[in-house]
Amino acid sequence: MRVLGIETSCDETGVAIYDTAYPGGDGLLADALYSQIAMHTEYGGVVPELASRDHTRKLLPLVEQVLREAPLTRQDLDGIAYTAGPGLVGALMVGAATAHGMARALDIPVLGVHHMEGHLLAPMLESEPPAFPFVALLVSGGHTQLVAVEGIGRYQLLGESVDDAAGEAFDKAAKMLGLPYPGGPHVARLAEQGDPKRFRFPRPMTDRPGLDFSFSGLKTHTLTAIRELEASGTLDEQARADVARAFEEAVADTLVIKCRRALDQTGLKRIVMAGGVSANTRLRERLAVECKKRNARAYYPRGRFCTDNGAMIAYVGAQRLAAGESDAEGQMQATPRWP
Ligand code: KG4
Ligand code: ZN
Repeated sequence: MRVLGIETSCDETGVAIYDTAYPGGDGLLADALYSQIAMHTEYGGVVPELASRDHTRKLLPLVEQVLREAPLTRQDLDGIAYTAGPGLVGALMVGAATAHGMARALDIPVLGVHHMEGHLLAPMLESEPPAFPFVALLVSGGHTQLVAVEGIGRYQLLGESVDDAAGEAFDKAAKMLGLPYPGGPHVARLAEQGDPKRFRFPRPMTDRPGLDFSFSGLKTHTLTAIRELEASGTLDEQARADVARAFEEAVADTLVIKCRRALDQTGLKRIVMAGGVSANTRLRERLAVECKKRNARAYYPRGRFCTDNGAMIAYVGAQRLAAGESDAEGQMQATPRWP
């Protein structure tokens, strides 16, 4: 089954074609991405109305591009998958309406998929994908979740953030440090020059049992540290780098401590890390050390599939459409909040 995947939940327009005739990553026939980040950076965050308009402008040209790359014609498609949520409602509707319109015109099935299921299964597109079951740590701008994954559609939530997501915390810390949106990669770059011993930030909720996360206290701690440095006239470039480093260490440590617990609790030896924050090098290093200690293995999507993309949506959609799932005719979904 050849499936066109469409991702428009936030600030990236992603389109891809996945063919279930080939295993794993070989099924990915084409993928294209247009990032709106440069446009939103000017405003310090995503402007929803601008995001929707830009998706409208870019989506069909990207569909044409992936068809040319594959190379296929529209008539070769057997199904269409789109991100139905969670995300910005206007942005989601562009993808949903386009997917349903095309599917109606081509008389093929169409299916709305969950954005986080896309992130969760993105490592399946790599050359050595994880076998089921595994633990997954999903760390994006909107979510921080630990999930036990038994198979496609068989997910058990082990823990999640009770307030800010890890990516959101990175973005807010970046803002405090005067760095552009999205802040994660900028904080990581600044942290490289930082002294890990100068400050020690708290590791929230690691001193009690459980797999939930909380990052809002860490955000306050970061702000207080910056204000104190400012008040004493010592907030120079080195101090900013030291704060970025302390912040990054605290987030990475907190996430890895909970991963270790999740592996212990489930007895599993495979862990997948996905979502934008999984691109973070320090976090990957920490997890690698932890995995080595317990003879476990970590799996990641390639860099460009850590953040939002159409390939992960095409993959999930292809698995589910091939299993017979589809939206009812005319029932397009755009669900901004979807647990
Ligand atoms: O998965 P994603 O592209 O979009 C959502 O579904 O939210 O994740 C975006 C988030 C942003 O908060 C961004 O700052 C963060 O991922 N991020 C990073 C890194 N690259 C992206 N955070 C830390 N280190 C990075 N290298
Ligand atoms: Zn995402």
